[in-house]
Amino acid sequence: VRPQRAFNYYGSKVAAAHRYPAPKYGKIIEPFAGGAGYSLRHRRLDVLLIDKNPDVIGAWQFLISTPGWEILRLPLLSPGEQTPSDLPDGARLLIGWANMMCAAHPQFALVPSAGRVPASFWGVRRRQSMALIADSVKHWTTRVGDFTDAPDDEATWFIDPPYQGPAGSCYPHSSKFIDYPALASWCRTRRGQVMVCEGPDARWLPFAEHHVHVSAPTHNRPGRRRSSESLWTGGET
Ligand SMILES: C[S@@+](CC[C@H](N)C(=O)[O-])C[C@H]1O[C@@H](n2cnc3c(N)ncnc32)[C@H](O)[C@@H]1O
Repeated sequence: VRPQRAFNYYGSKVAAAHRYPAPKYGKIIEPFAGGAGYSLRHRRLDVLLIDKNPDVIGAWQFLISTPGWEILRLPLLSPGEQTPSDLPDGARLLIGWANMMCAAHPQFALVPSAGRVPASFWGVRRRQSMALIADSVKHWTTRVGDFTDAPDDEATWFIDPPYQGPAGSCYPHSSKFIDYPALASWCRTRRGQVMVCEGPDARWLPFAEHHVHVSAPTHNRPGRRRSSESLWTGGET
């Protein structure tokens, strides 16, 4: 089964979600939500998404609060065309995250290459899968905020912060603003099942190599590339 992508998000875990341990709790908390690939895979569970970027949470909140049949009425775009400015902000964001190669900012004009690979961008197929996703995430909740605003619940924690250093510098709320030793202490005090993702060079927790990921093309690099992904599970698997 091809995983359903909601956003073309930089650093998305949609395609790799099946590689991570399955949730052991009925609630998943993603305190660095982005395109929320792990939660999407396990979307029937209770999910709480937190992200500091209002453009991320705005799109999720729109998807959660809008019935699928209304998503199906959102306009399609021709390559190069702008998303209409009279749509609700959440709809513009939702479309904006599907208009381009994986990126950390939404884009309001549909990329020209959408003409060649329409299924990868906002179009009939993506709109259809977004409508199905919309109807299956009505029980999710979201919050714009810092990861430290998350409730202290016993849950499955999928923690995927911007990777330390240049790899995580492209987000508006980037690696530059994160105190990684403080984040490490915070991760160690989560209750329940804890997964923390990073790249191969990170040492702020005792990460172990986990898998090699072949990533989707991003806005700043053409073609696919392989990256080595690390994981810390607090001693659990
Ligand atoms: C690597 S991305 C998450 C990708 C996600 N797992 C997916 O499948 O698409 C990291 C996210 O952390 C968010 N972020 C950065 N600093 C944050 C902070 N202090 N608190 C909460 N979210 C933050 C960024 O806006 C970005 O969306």
